[in-house]
Amino acid sequence: MLARTTLRAIPRRAFSTSAPRQTKVAVLGAGGGIGQPLSLLLKMNPLVSSLSLYDIRGAPGVAADISHIDFPGEVNGYPADKLEDALTGAEVIVIPAGVPRKPGMTRDDLFNTNAGIVRDLAQAISKTAPKAHVLIISNPVNSTVPIVASVFEKAGTFDPKRLFGVTTLDVVRASRFLATVAGTNPQETHVPVVGGHSGVTIIPLLSQAKEAKGIIGDKETYDKLVYRIQYGGDEVVKAKDGAGSATLSMAFAGAKFANSLLRALKGEKGIVVPTFVKSPLFAKEGIDFFSSNVELGPNGVEKIHELGQISPAEEELLKAALPELKKNIEKGIKFAA
Ligand code: NAD
Ligand code: LMR
Repeated sequence: MLARTTLRAIPRRAFSTSAPRQTKVAVLGAGGGIGQPLSLLLKMNPLVSSLSLYDIRGAPGVAADISHIDFPGEVNGYPADKLEDALTGAEVIVIPAGVPRKPGMTRDDLFNTNAGIVRDLAQAISKTAPKAHVLIISNPVNSTVPIVASVFEKAGTFDPKRLFGVTTLDVVRASRFLATVAGTNPQETHVPVVGGHSGVTIIPLLSQAKEAKGIIGDKETYDKLVYRIQYGGDEVVKAKDGAGSATLSMAFAGAKFANSLLRALKGEKGIVVPTFVKSPLFAKEGIDFFSSNVELGPNGVEKIHELGQISPAEEELLKAALPELKKNIEKGIKFAA
């Protein structure tokens, strides 16, 4: 089911042997809870010609395992001391490296461990694969993306069109949770989710989803739905009871976003998805990174969309999100400095 959904969006010509543009993709943190299923889904994507799996633990084993799957595309695994080899020639790099939450923790509580991991990986990328498109999954995304941007800036390799915080899981959850309440098909229920990726910074624009029409006027149902979208991650952390956070739904979401980018890099037009990027939308408020609908193109970010018309309730959500987002971004930039 996952594979069918991931692959369905790929046009038929992508399967032809004659012309498709294929891409070397690296996964850093490939041995982890997200890294393994994400690597599996990427192996099944015909736009990925070569998969480079890196982790400080276990990547060669994961690569050997996945390489037996009867889809085209090669897979190579790299141990801790072979990061440079793993990155060489990579055009798209996905980073789920770092520790996950345990019950009672916020994503910001992961900062002390994950900031250094992401910074070191970014430094290696700036040396070995400075032109790659980099997709950050490691939390706290609101801070790790600015860290990577700052490292690239210092190295003189920062291209804001090529750095993405992956917020797709919020979008996937919003579709699923709204569809559950509205009784619609989640695959055809689309909710733009903007802002950042943690608690109040996650802003679902339900007023822009036609399936939410009957719900917005019902304050109790609306508030519950917004809360569930903002704190969906906590549901999984609680249910896993100390064994980590979302991995399978995140692998699905990461593969979905990677597929959107790969299609756009290949020249497909009109691909618009929310992602956390360097953005002018709230720069006046001192917020340089923001997730909104972004049109992807052959060079990465093609066009950052405005939020469009939002409801008074969404104005309130935005008001609550901005100070927290600003704090998270500044923390990342300060760390990298
Ligand atoms: P995990 O512990 O299962 O896996 C993390 C992997 O990273 C491990 O295999 C570990 O060896 C590896 N790693 C650690 N340091 C590394 C380094 N320097 N280089 C390469 N690999 C390294 O954790 P997980 O459940 O896969 O989660 C990973 C991260 O993704 C966490 O920070 C989590 O909070 C985040 N996450 C983000 C989202 C999102 O929506 N963006 C969703 C879920 C989880
Ligand atoms: C999520 O939204 O599931 C992830 O960010 C992981 C977490 O810590 O909740």
